[in-house]
Amino acid sequence: MTVQDSGKVALVTGASRGIGYGIAEALVARGDRVAITGRGEDALKEAVERLGADRVIAIPGKAHDEAHQAAAVERTMEAFGRVDYLVNNAGTNPVFGPMAELDLNVARKVYETNVISALGFAQQTWKAWQKENGGAIVNIASVAGVAPSPFIGAYGMSKAAMINLTAQLAHEFAPVVRVNAIAPAVVKTKFAEALYEGREAEAAAAYPLGRLGVPEDIGGAAAFLTSAQSDWITGQTLVVDGGIFLNAGVG
Ligand SMILES: NC(=O)c1ccc[n+]([C@@H]2O[C@H](COP(=O)([O-])OP(=O)(O)OC[C@H]3O[C@@H](n4cnc5c(N)ncnc54)[C@H](OP(=O)(O)O)[C@@H]3O)[C@@H](O)[C@H]2O)c1
Repeated sequence: MTVQDSGKVALVTGASRGIGYGIAEALVARGDRVAITGRGEDALKEAVERLGADRVIAIPGKAHDEAHQAAAVERTMEAFGRVDYLVNNAGTNPVFGPMAELDLNVARKVYETNVISALGFAQQTWKAWQKENGGAIVNIASVAGVAPSPFIGAYGMSKAAMINLTAQLAHEFAPVVRVNAIAPAVVKTKFAEALYEGREAEAAAAYPLGRLGVPEDIGGAAAFLTSAQSDWITGQTLVVDGGIFLNAGVG
């Protein structure tokens, strides 16, 4: 089926697989042209082939690298002439353990990759297109940024900072650019595998909606937050969690 071109362009970081890929897929399906990033070039190539090389380009690089941030936006502008939407999705969670023993250099690295990178990309899209022409930014946070999650404290701190960054940018970029975040619970990707592998039914049973998330769930939310349907929403964090937070009051 041919999709009618929306005339809009998105840059999605960390989109060779998982949630970022699910978001890119949702945006391509509605007619956007999309630039995706990631570190692994082969995975990026495969993703471009699956998404459609006529509408998607890939820019390899590490999210925290400022030169890559600038190059990604420059390449997107060269290829498509605009960058309406930025989805800051690339993120890392390399440690598991108590905060009392957290290696501070690892905590710094997590902050750099998850938070500073998102700010860097937002600065670039703002300068290159959005300041003059408008658009929207979506930051992929986590439920771990909304409430404490055992043994992933460094990650949770960084995602909480991302939620504040969202509100801060929403305030500063209004009224031209809307900035919102999505806070997913467990979504079935390589990143979260350890949380459910071999025990998915048990993990899913904790969710009032009876299942874990899939990348399409976040794709739908990101498509909404980058559409006219959300034109009066900014600075918000949309929790997409299969209802898991509803358990907080169950004693
Ligand atoms: N899955 C969950 O349960 C869940 C829940 C809440 C929030 N999140 C958030 O959702 C985002 C995506 O996670 P995911 O579950 O989709 O992970 P994933 O399946 O591991 O995919 C991560 C994607 O980002 C790329 N990437 C990873 N580190 C990168 C870096 N430093 N620079 C550039 N690209 C990078 C990966 O490609 P390369 O490895 O080739 O670079 C890949 O394309 C993250 O921010 C994560 O914190 C995930």
